[in-house]
Amino acid sequence: MSALSIIIDTDPGQDDAIALLLAAASPELELLGVTTVAGNVPLALTTLNACKVMELAGRRDVPICAGADRPLDVPLVTAEHVHGDTGLNGVQLPEPTLAVDPRHAVDFIIQTLREREAGTVTLCPLGPLTNIALALRQAPDIAPRIRRIVLMGGGFFEGGNVTPAAEFNFYVDPRAAHEVFTSGVPITMAPLDVTHEALTTAARIEAIRAIGNRVGPVVAAWMEFFERYDEEKYGQDGGPLHDPCVIAWLLRPALFSGRDCNVRIETASELTRGMSVVDWWAVTGLPANAQVLRHVDSDGFFALLTERLSRLG
Ligand code: RIB
Ligand code: CA
Repeated sequence: MSALSIIIDTDPGQDDAIALLLAAASPELELLGVTTVAGNVPLALTTLNACKVMELAGRRDVPICAGADRPLDVPLVTAEHVHGDTGLNGVQLPEPTLAVDPRHAVDFIIQTLREREAGTVTLCPLGPLTNIALALRQAPDIAPRIRRIVLMGGGFFEGGNVTPAAEFNFYVDPRAAHEVFTSGVPITMAPLDVTHEALTTAARIEAIRAIGNRVGPVVAAWMEFFERYDEEKYGQDGGPLHDPCVIAWLLRPALFSGRDCNVRIETASELTRGMSVVDWWAVTGLPANAQVLRHVDSDGFFALLTERLSRLG
């Protein structure tokens, strides 16, 4: 079976970084490029972090293109309180030697979709959806060429993590999320409902630390830093490992369960800005526009993640 061609759009962020490593270690995936967006930390840092992570992964072959430095129509909100001032706190990685590709992320996404056979490229947004929305605005012809958008964002039964109503990625750029969910492109959505089941417990972190390569201790340190905020907030053993759920779904969809739903994004209300209104019980009669993941086999997820990380240097 040929590899699945993907572009990861990301705002590293420790969980984004682990998702990048998982993708880099998985031969089932052809990683065409990494595009960066402002989110967890400003664009300059998300781009620097993407370079550090891809160098750690030994994947200097993958172009890294910087994208939007702010949301479509609201001021940027970042999350240094969660990810630290660098966005990758927990371990100090060396300054990268690989160069950022000069193409803008949006141009790279459009060019790649136009050059590749229609229906063969999957977009994997792990942060605010600004780059994806800009690409769809700039080149509406790419929409039918996108195989699927598999994204981390939103929440329904779990509510929000940045406001009571909204998850961070959709809160930062609600207009972009709205435009993606009304684009007609097939979507698989990994919301807080599923990522909150993927908890970085002490035992799981120790298993990763003990892998026996350079990557294991780095990922364990990121998990320990990243989870401290959520452990206190949710009062449980470990924090939710959000973004790697996107890559794990591509690799092992059977680990996940969910259903096709209509999903709309709140863009007008200040109180519920960025809320993903998921019609889980199909009460609106509106057509489904997203496959919404609800549960994951967390032991299977971490077994997959640990095994794949062990393949790296
Ligand atoms: O709400 C979780 C999401 O926001 C994750 O993608 C995390 O990296 C942050 O971007
Ligand atoms: Ca992210």
